[in-house]
Amino acid sequence: MVERETWATRAGFILAAIGSAVGLGNIWRFPFQTATNGGSAFLLVYLVAVLVIGIPALLGEFVVGRRANINAIEAFNKLGRPQWAFVGAIGVLGSFWTLSYYSVVGGWVLRFIYGFASGVVLDQPQTYFTDVAATGLDAVALHGLFMLVTAGIVALGIEDGIELATKFMVPSIVVLLLGLAVYAFTLPGSGAGYEFYLSPDFATVVENWTTVVPAAAGQALFSLSVGFAVMITYASYLSKDDSLPADGLTIAVSNSFVGFLAGLVVIPLLFAAGITIGGEGSLVSGSGGAGAVFIGVTTALVDLPGLAARVVGALFFGTVLIAAISSSISLLEAVVSYLVDNYALPRAPTAAGLGGVVFLLGVPSALDTAWLTWFDGISVSLFLPVVVLLVVLFVGWELGGEAVDELRQGTSGGTLLPMVWLWSLRTVVLLAILVVVGLNFYDLFLTPEAGDYFIVPPGL
Ligand code: PFF
Repeated sequence: MVERETWATRAGFILAAIGSAVGLGNIWRFPFQTATNGGSAFLLVYLVAVLVIGIPALLGEFVVGRRANINAIEAFNKLGRPQWAFVGAIGVLGSFWTLSYYSVVGGWVLRFIYGFASGVVLDQPQTYFTDVAATGLDAVALHGLFMLVTAGIVALGIEDGIELATKFMVPSIVVLLLGLAVYAFTLPGSGAGYEFYLSPDFATVVENWTTVVPAAAGQALFSLSVGFAVMITYASYLSKDDSLPADGLTIAVSNSFVGFLAGLVVIPLLFAAGITIGGEGSLVSGSGGAGAVFIGVTTALVDLPGLAARVVGALFFGTVLIAAISSSISLLEAVVSYLVDNYALPRAPTAAGLGGVVFLLGVPSALDTAWLTWFDGISVSLFLPVVVLLVVLFVGWELGGEAVDELRQGTSGGTLLPMVWLWSLRTVVLLAILVVVGLNFYDLFLTPEAGDYFIVPPGL
């Protein structure tokens, strides 16, 4: 039997996990979500959600993965609980589903990099997204190109593919975003952006808590890549002498920092160009719709002097691309590892074949953003919270003491913190996630939007 791969270094695992966490969610969704849901008050709710639900759940997935040392479905069998294997299966399915539209957004990003590098986007900043990037066969082709790159890296394996790639990608994202944030700071008029982004509006949060709280919790979990079998898979390539709590904390803090930093780029850029966020007639839709970051940032850059618009735009979308790829490879790996582990299939053709199937599933999203929004909604409001709920139940109430043992491996601490973690999973996290699932289900199944229930696919 071929020996199963492992991460070459601990830093390699941490960077790969940060790469998975930091992605389109941080740049495409987070800044707008924060800005329109109460500014820093939303940031606070998000941070509480990371701390109270996100980190405990992330550690839960780590424990399952490392203890079993095998893919997310087989893990439950190996831990002697085959009746729970369906949880891993839903997670893997969720990865598959999510990657299909994630890759479409990746294709738009490719289009915008080309648009800025060549300058063509500057002729039609407000219509380039709808008329060029997010429509037609080009969008399908670029979605295909993005999947090809993703599958190419996964085909190379854990150490020579994912670990090597993310070792370069994650530091690049941070350096590029820092540079762009400093640049945005120097633009006249950006000051109002900081005020808008950072001034807490608790009234908005309190008034709309039934939507704001699940949005913050959903974003916290999606952003940490929890709920899609990905972190179970990544932790399955770990050795026993890593400290899971320390790694989890590093990953969560880095991820929130990058999300916050992305806001410090996007929001001041928009304000410097006089673009407002939210409200009637606003260019950038309040909900942070699919095109918000593309249309907003592009329009904001158009009037920069000389080549600045082309350079800054290409760098910005280049950063988004790196973040997107370092996440998409983790989504594909969750599925690939299952087939490679369980059926002893060769990695490279498996990655290629699965990449092809994911590509096909993404075609409707590439042709029509209404489909993409629907796929995204099902992913974040259905797959994710359901899997997190089940993982929390499994680790808290089924594994129990075994989970505590596993969490302690590789740490020098006693049992106090692991016990606090276990009991928080059993009580607070469980309750919080039940509330989120309840509110999400209410939204999905019970509130008709424009005459339709969200769970019904567009046009049907
Ligand atoms: N965390 C990524 C982001 O914020 O863009 C997306 C993601 C990757 C979600 C991997 C889930 C996952 F398993």
